[in-house]
Amino acid sequence: MIEDLDKDQVYIEEQLLNPAQIGVIQERFNEILGNKNSEFANSYTSWDTEITDNYRAGIVLLKNLDNDAVRPVIKDACERMTGKDCTKAILSVFTAGSYIPWHDDKKFDAAITIHVDDYDWQDGGMFLYTDPSDNFSGIRGYIPRAGAGVYVKNAWHMVTPVLPTRPPRLTVQCWFIED
Ligand SMILES: [Fe+2]
Repeated sequence: MIEDLDKDQVYIEEQLLNPAQIGVIQERFNEILGNKNSEFANSYTSWDTEITDNYRAGIVLLKNLDNDAVRPVIKDACERMTGKDCTKAILSVFTAGSYIPWHDDKKFDAAITIHVDDYDWQDGGMFLYTDPSDNFSGIRGYIPRAGAGVYVKNAWHMVTPVLPTRPPRLTVQCWFIED
């Protein structure tokens, strides 16, 4: 549980989901990705152009999960981390060569990224974060592990390019938007 929700920060909880919850989400995502009738939005039409690096980054496929069978698992994860459910939950499929350049997500109140699969350090798709006031000298990195939750509130971060040799990088993006 995050102690100070008003504080700008990056906070990583390695085992936000338990193995059963990871299994439920992985099974559902395999079903979605294996179904040729699944419909996706995508980063090129849904995101600000800075976040797609002006369309230079590989495309990220997006699927709203708000009415999906896995939504209760996501709700549980958000509540355990912050004490409340997120406003919006989205499956993000980072295809080969996709990445997100440095940004601070300031337009949202906060976000949690739930990682669905394990990454090797050579796979790309690493989460980097820092405080730009130190001229990016203190960059820290996180190699995604299945079930991890990464909370970001007004903090600079990016995702390094996903290598073409590896399957798509799957995450659940949970947005917190105050009204
Ligand atoms: Fe972000």
